[in-house]
Amino acid sequence: MRILFLTHGFNSLTQRLFIELTELGHEISIEFDIADAVSEEAVALFAPDLIVAPYLRRAIPESIWARHVCLVVHPGIVGDRGPSALDWAIQDGAETWGVTVLQANAEMDAGDIWAAETFPLRHASKSSLYRNEVTEAAVRAVLAAVERFARGNYEPRPLNTIDLPLQGGARPLLRQADRAIDWARDGTVAVLRKINAADGNPGVLDELFGQPCWLFDAHPCKQSGGVAAAAHSGKPGQIFGRNGSGLLRKTGDGVLRIGHVIRRDASHPFKLPAAAAFPAESAELPDMPCDWEEIGYQEADGVGFLRFDFYNGAMSTRQCEDLLAAYLQARARPTRVIVLLGGGDFWSNGIHLNLIEAADSPADESWRNINAIDDLARAILATDQQLTIAALRGNAGAGGAFLALAADRVWARRGVLLNPHYKNMGNLYGSEYWTYSLPRRVGRARANEIMQRRLPVGALQAQHAGLVDDCFGDLESFMPELRIRASALASSADYPEILAAKRLARAQAEAEKPLAAYREEKLAEMKRNFYGFDPSYHVARYHFVYKLPHAWTPRHLAQHRQSTVRPAEG
Ligand code: COA
Repeated sequence: MRILFLTHGFNSLTQRLFIELTELGHEISIEFDIADAVSEEAVALFAPDLIVAPYLRRAIPESIWARHVCLVVHPGIVGDRGPSALDWAIQDGAETWGVTVLQANAEMDAGDIWAAETFPLRHASKSSLYRNEVTEAAVRAVLAAVERFARGNYEPRPLNTIDLPLQGGARPLLRQADRAIDWARDGTVAVLRKINAADGNPGVLDELFGQPCWLFDAHPCKQSGGVAAAAHSGKPGQIFGRNGSGLLRKTGDGVLRIGHVIRRDASHPFKLPAAAAFPAESAELPDMPCDWEEIGYQEADGVGFLRFDFYNGAMSTRQCEDLLAAYLQARARPTRVIVLLGGGDFWSNGIHLNLIEAADSPADESWRNINAIDDLARAILATDQQLTIAALRGNAGAGGAFLALAADRVWARRGVLLNPHYKNMGNLYGSEYWTYSLPRRVGRARANEIMQRRLPVGALQAQHAGLVDDCFGDLESFMPELRIRASALASSADYPEILAAKRLARAQAEAEKPLAAYREEKLAEMKRNFYGFDPSYHVARYHFVYKLPHAWTPRHLAQHRQSTVRPAEG
């Protein structure tokens, strides 16, 4: 079928559905819901059999839904209606939540139901739930709905005929007044729910150091050691310490680490690590260990597991340096395999564009950051005492996707997405030794194709292309299966031969062309991106960090516009 996506953006769920439906043989084209007239034009140009709206911020106009079946993905259980579905569920502490696929009609979220799925609501942030449970449920529901539509004889069920135990209801927009934290009264669980319900957008409007700001990325901390002593004497709401780039704040009955904020008053009105948003105030605070850390290391059965849970997968210069130090420590351990676990939501998305944007010299900070991530990639590539595995529990994009290729093996959870290209960020050349690792895996011709394509690749597709070596498990089974496979590799009879072959291959490759030469070549190009006369990277980064709305759908997504030329584009 020809399926048109009407969507606010090409976000992770939209990307995943694009991949799943394309793999089933459907022809997909995409239009951003910028204005009714633009959507109408897209429908006229593409003449779709079916319209799917994975991520809408505006209602579909009657001129479209009256003539075409439009399936809208609503991140709520059957009967739930309104623009803050997931937010309310998290804030209210619901135990089960779901995704419903309904047919667009005159009333928002009240159309006939084509498919619905439910899942247990994990205690996690909205963005984490959206990228994991919601996405998986949405994929199941959309595939079922599309299959039912294609069959031709399916009657979607009107909402008022459904009697389910999990009946939701119409709920208004969750306003900042509903999200407000009462620090004197709210305990850790209540504050955490509020911040989780607003993460990564819009955040909870609050105050830090007397300045209005939106809070994101909260983690509870156990009260022990210095944290316990400092928290004991403080008042609820008080910030009494720092933990790396996060701030430690007392609640009614415990302690939270606030990781990220957006200051309302500042010259940088975008998300930053809390300590970076308040540098002077944070410098006065004692740095205290806390039981939640971005980087963690564990060992089992001769395997070292290095976790790096960087918010949004963005890796700043300091985070790259810290991770390199942790990696070198892991490398010094008597293990046989090192598993690079990334974070639960993202494996990595490359250099930290927000911190770069906020720096006095974004060009200098870009340079420092790319060198720091390159140092890490080189340490992984040069590991000669262990086999290394990049284990992608979550998505990886741009430099993060290429960092993964520095490992000997890349294993991915089924459903993970890779965006192995840099071009969307102002034609960035990219580094992370990709000109070494990518062609070695997929060949030169395919490597060029991947870099030019600018589209996400699903884990299975990536395995077929040679980007990923193995693809297994789902949200629940990936980690246990990973442990079994990694320890099997560590204890396999042919481990010594595999390691010896790896050392030999590296030595031969080094003799042919040293890693330093690959790095030098790419960094010379990156220097042009950062300091040259073409400001495309700086402009693209500004657009990305400030989340400027799209003026039109990029041509590589809007298949139906491939042959039409906009006047502005010449
Ligand atoms: N630096 C800073 N923030 C980043 C980031 C980066 N490299 N990559 C992603 N983010 C942030 C986004 O701003 C967004 O923030 P939010 O919490 O305020 O909404 C969040 O991570 C999720 O990103 P989003 O774009 O909504 O996720 P997605 O799954 O739809 O798309 C990517 C994933 C990787 C395709 C997209 O985020 C991207 O293009 N990132 C930039 C990658 C890049 O160019 N890195 C630099 C070159 S190495």
